[in-house]
Amino acid sequence: MKAIVIDKPGAPDVLHYTERPRPEPQEHELLVKVAAAGVNRPDVAQRKGHYPPPPGASPDIPGLEIAGTVVATGKDCKRFKIGDTICALVTGGGYAEYCVVPEGQALPIPANLTPAEAASLPETFFTVWSNVFDRGRLQPGESLLVHGGSSGIGVAAIQMAHAWGATVYVTAGSDDKCIYCEQLGAKKAVNYKTAKFGDVLKQATNGKGIDVILDMIGGDYTPVNLDLLAEEGRLVLINVMRGDETPIKLSAVMRKRLTITGSTLRARDAAFKAAIAQQLEKYVWPWLVSGKVKPVIYKTFPMEAAAKAHTLMESSEHIGKIVLLA
Ligand SMILES: NC(=O)c1ccc[n+]([C@@H]2O[C@H](COP(=O)([O-])OP(=O)(O)OC[C@H]3O[C@@H](n4cnc5c(N)ncnc54)[C@H](OP(=O)(O)O)[C@@H]3O)[C@@H](O)[C@H]2O)c1
Repeated sequence: MKAIVIDKPGAPDVLHYTERPRPEPQEHELLVKVAAAGVNRPDVAQRKGHYPPPPGASPDIPGLEIAGTVVATGKDCKRFKIGDTICALVTGGGYAEYCVVPEGQALPIPANLTPAEAASLPETFFTVWSNVFDRGRLQPGESLLVHGGSSGIGVAAIQMAHAWGATVYVTAGSDDKCIYCEQLGAKKAVNYKTAKFGDVLKQATNGKGIDVILDMIGGDYTPVNLDLLAEEGRLVLINVMRGDETPIKLSAVMRKRLTITGSTLRARDAAFKAAIAQQLEKYVWPWLVSGKVKPVIYKTFPMEAAAKAHTLMESSEHIGKIVLLA
């Protein structure tokens, strides 16, 4: 089969379109003919050599989410059959003509979505569900701040939290991105390049602060995040793009009874991911079917142009998702 492989760690041009053996499904896996594969920031980190694939994942074919047609099923697969169209979270190997998928991580494609739209969902929707709703315990009526509001993660988090009945605030790196986030459902978006988000959002919440913060930035955002959290607030970290270390005032954690948590999805086991898939199908898939939550695709590229897709992602010019078409 054709696949994109990472020749060696480096710039986008280390992504190489080549021939690879077609994977064989294990007992609990589906073999899927890929129609589209989502591009995610962790793929960029993997390409640079900063995010090695966990044991069992394809060592050099990136790609954490796909949509396509089931062409073979392992003997223990119970739900999906040959010919079904699905989208799925995978631990790697998505940038390819064929990909194996643990059956529990596959979801049916809502009839109103294209394969490219469906492929743009799993990585961000699984991550947001696990971190905002499970770890962050966001309740209807509470407030959520999403840093990187225009990211793939951000556009999913804004819509899901808004549909859940929460009030959503975001930060983003341009006025255009801020306008887009507000159109998607954010009550207020702060351009972090021109304003101090801590001050703006303290004022916007009448001094109460924010109940849950989803943060991919870390570093110098952390003391500001802790100051901004309301009593019983939860800070959920999913990356540290501005640094892994920062001084914080631990007394704020005691005084406001804060929770600091976080997670990485990729290394979690198939049972954990299957449990999230079930929650998504129950709570979030109806929002996709009704149009309350929509995929946001900024640009598609043919699979062989994966290097261009990575260059675009690293520019941070995009709003929403970038998708490869097989
Ligand atoms: N823990 C997990 O399980 C998990 C899973 C998936 C993704 N993630 C993380 O979630 C983040 C979003 O992923 P994605 O695929 O949605 O990526 P993405 O679409 O490329 O979004 C990243 C966004 O971060 C903003 N940004 C970049 N550098 C920044 C900086 N130094 N300061 C402030 N903002 C910055 C950029 O927007 P601006 O214009 O606003 O700067 C950019 O749009 C990534 O960090 C990724 O590693 C974590």
